[in-house]
Amino acid sequence: MSIGVFDSGVGGLTVHHALVDRLPSADFIYLADQANTPYGGRPGPEIVDLTRKGCERLFDAGASLVILACNTASAIALRRLQQTWLPGHRRALGRPVNVLGIIVPTIEAATGLPWQHEVERKPGKIEQLDVLGIFCTPATANSRVYEIEIDKRRDDVAVFSEPCPTLAGLIERGAGAVELATVVEKHVDALRARLGRHPDRAILGCTHYEIVADMFRAALPPGTPLIHQPRATADAIEAYLAKHPEYEPGRDGTRRFLTTGTPGPQHGLVEAFWGAPLGFDAA
Ligand code: DGL
Repeated sequence: MSIGVFDSGVGGLTVHHALVDRLPSADFIYLADQANTPYGGRPGPEIVDLTRKGCERLFDAGASLVILACNTASAIALRRLQQTWLPGHRRALGRPVNVLGIIVPTIEAATGLPWQHEVERKPGKIEQLDVLGIFCTPATANSRVYEIEIDKRRDDVAVFSEPCPTLAGLIERGAGAVELATVVEKHVDALRARLGRHPDRAILGCTHYEIVADMFRAALPPGTPLIHQPRATADAIEAYLAKHPEYEPGRDGTRRFLTTGTPGPQHGLVEAFWGAPLGFDAA
């Protein structure tokens, strides 16, 4: 058995990297749905359908646990698939399988609270408001998942999402540094203009954006903390596997990279992030 990692494209590699560092002896299969990337501007039902097909492909390839290393799929498809599709698919496969997303661990990291925390609302004045910016795809921004879930847990954190409609596609195509930095600066500036100030902290709420995290750091005021979604996810998955031995992660340290798009090497931007050439096989 193995751990499956799914994204619309190369963004999930940022999460995969952290997972592999944390669980070096586990077997991993990464699936990039590059035939259909980017997901962030697609209607919800399409995102649900594509995510389900990706999970099916990974379970067929031997995954016991699939991590949706994609905010868009986690925000739009995860709950729907867990409620309507996964129970039947589990029965059909006749073995324990599960799908987990990356938004829960990210919200736990952003709030400093476990997901199941009982929220105690204390009356009174909020001394200091912590302004949290989320840079994400339009689908994730429209879902308002970060606003809703953080708001339930923390009175003193104000969340503002900034949709970046073209950024994941540009990263997927391996656009040049100048073009990417210009788009990143435009969105950081748009959020600043909307709020009248920069956020105190930020989340790169699309896994593709972690590949250009240095551009966000350069565009935001120096030292603005970025909540690191890949690390938060690796913490959560390590803890989850320790509690759920039924999801067997393998022990040979194998790595497979599959794409629904064109097989072969990825472009320089991905290789620079990955630190080595990276070839994908046909899914
Ligand atoms: N990397 C994905 C995310 O975290 C998807 C980007 C896209 O396909 O639009 O949202």
